[in-house]
Amino acid sequence: MLPSINFTETPAYQYLADHYIAINEKSIRQLFQEDPQRFENFSVKLNDILLDYSKNRINAETFVLLIQLARECQLEKAIHAMFSGEKINVTEGRQVLHTALRNQAGNPIIVDNEDVMAKVKAVKEHMKAFCQQIHSGTWKGYTGKTITDIVNIGIGGSDLGPVMVTEALKAYKTHLNVLFVSNVDGTHIAETLKGLNPETTLFLVASKTFTTQETMANAQSAKDWFLKSGAVEADVAKHFAALSTNEKGVSAFGIDPKNMFEFWDWVGGRYSLWSAIGLSIALSIGFDNFEEVLQGAYEADIHFQDASFEENIPVILAMLGIWYNNFFGAESHAILPYDQYLHRFAAYFQQGDMESNGKYIDRNGNRVDYETGPIIWGEPGTNGQHAFYQLIHQGTKLIPCDFIAPAVSHNPIGNHHQLLLSNFFAQTEALMNGKSEEEVVAELQQGGKSDVEIEKLKNYKVFEGNRPSNSFLIKKITPRSLGTLIAFYEHKIFVQGIIWNIFSFDQWGVELGKQLANKILPELEDNAPISSHDSSTNGLINQYKNWRAD
Ligand code: F6P
Repeated sequence: MLPSINFTETPAYQYLADHYIAINEKSIRQLFQEDPQRFENFSVKLNDILLDYSKNRINAETFVLLIQLARECQLEKAIHAMFSGEKINVTEGRQVLHTALRNQAGNPIIVDNEDVMAKVKAVKEHMKAFCQQIHSGTWKGYTGKTITDIVNIGIGGSDLGPVMVTEALKAYKTHLNVLFVSNVDGTHIAETLKGLNPETTLFLVASKTFTTQETMANAQSAKDWFLKSGAVEADVAKHFAALSTNEKGVSAFGIDPKNMFEFWDWVGGRYSLWSAIGLSIALSIGFDNFEEVLQGAYEADIHFQDASFEENIPVILAMLGIWYNNFFGAESHAILPYDQYLHRFAAYFQQGDMESNGKYIDRNGNRVDYETGPIIWGEPGTNGQHAFYQLIHQGTKLIPCDFIAPAVSHNPIGNHHQLLLSNFFAQTEALMNGKSEEEVVAELQQGGKSDVEIEKLKNYKVFEGNRPSNSFLIKKITPRSLGTLIAFYEHKIFVQGIIWNIFSFDQWGVELGKQLANKILPELEDNAPISSHDSSTNGLINQYKNWRAD
């Protein structure tokens, strides 16, 4: 059982509320002056990953209180409940065991009186053997040719994780061309299939439920495209595989059960890249590298369970997020990787975080009276700097940021990486220090501006600073370090869900839109005007019908 504590009623919360008033007066710059050991005190390393959280609006007392808050919310008990396989996804009556998928130690994990590790191992063996056949070319298509292109068809958690990881680890790519189709917009599949040869293309239909409208529509269109090439139904077995928990659905679609890679309902969709859903990753970077991703995540799992909260990276990230979200009123959180390969990292954690913690009902079934999950967003640096950083530096909103950069690039061309990293270091410093009026005036004087001009300009050029950030410096983005980093963020989300007293592993909020779309679909079959909705929805549907009939 997860604890069910209203964190705003804990002693630690009350202390933090008082303490916030004092800290809010101080600048991070001042805090650095007060503590010469600030970097040493507020940074932590695990293997090749350094987290520097010293540029935050905290001092030693804040940190102690935030950790106290985690303890008063019985976080330790909650961590144990998740890893030991308790049914902590209460509203769906399920365990939350994506960690079992990367349990490299292989110790038993019991679900309904059965050790799931045997099943996990068997599916991994199946994936390995399949990868071996595809990579070596022994797997032949229906005309005897080897497979050159893989198309993963899935959406949400059955797409975002594989896309993010295959992009992040492009430097490790095998010879296969791995593509992704997610959107039900026919444009997505049409554009993806352009130039592909059905004889050498393999489709992975990735869907936990095997009922998701978008995925089923895309899979059907892929099958039609394949059959149009002259192939017959029996050839589907050589070109379609399924990654799913739904064996019946897979057979009904016509995919050979031998080509089904199973996972289980205790793996949440947005936590499933570690499961059979990761087959596109394994095909893209090789099975051994996929194992390394799992190994990296396993190392984060051990750290999360064993490290004291004071040294625990996911706990620290989570509690800093709580500090800004619930005391400073920050509404969003930016993830800013200074690595082009990580260009889908923020998009991936939009689902990971917002689908997990975008909830207003607490674990007692009541509406919360405090803020829960933030808006997650971000783009890679330095592109973001030329797009939205203006608002982070001088806007009216407080936006805590995570900066992420590798020390060593996979593409050491000229001085590109130094240019990139000079920006990575400069941005967090600029956000923290800002630029004072005196500095601005001195700069303008040096530039030869008159006193009148200086008076007119100076306010625009002052940066208040005091904008908080975390910096992740990673030796190199490898399968292993990436696995660790992803798992850190997963566990951060878990910790925040525990503190906010919400259920992080269901997603009822996406159901309503799906239900309504299903209701509207039959109304779009003909061009007769409809009047079954509100006037806006009726108006839009009727205009759509008019225009398509033209
Ligand atoms: O968007 C809702 C959701 O249920 C996600 O949680 C999930 O990742 C996605 O749909 C896809 O679901 P499935 O893998 O069952 O097709």
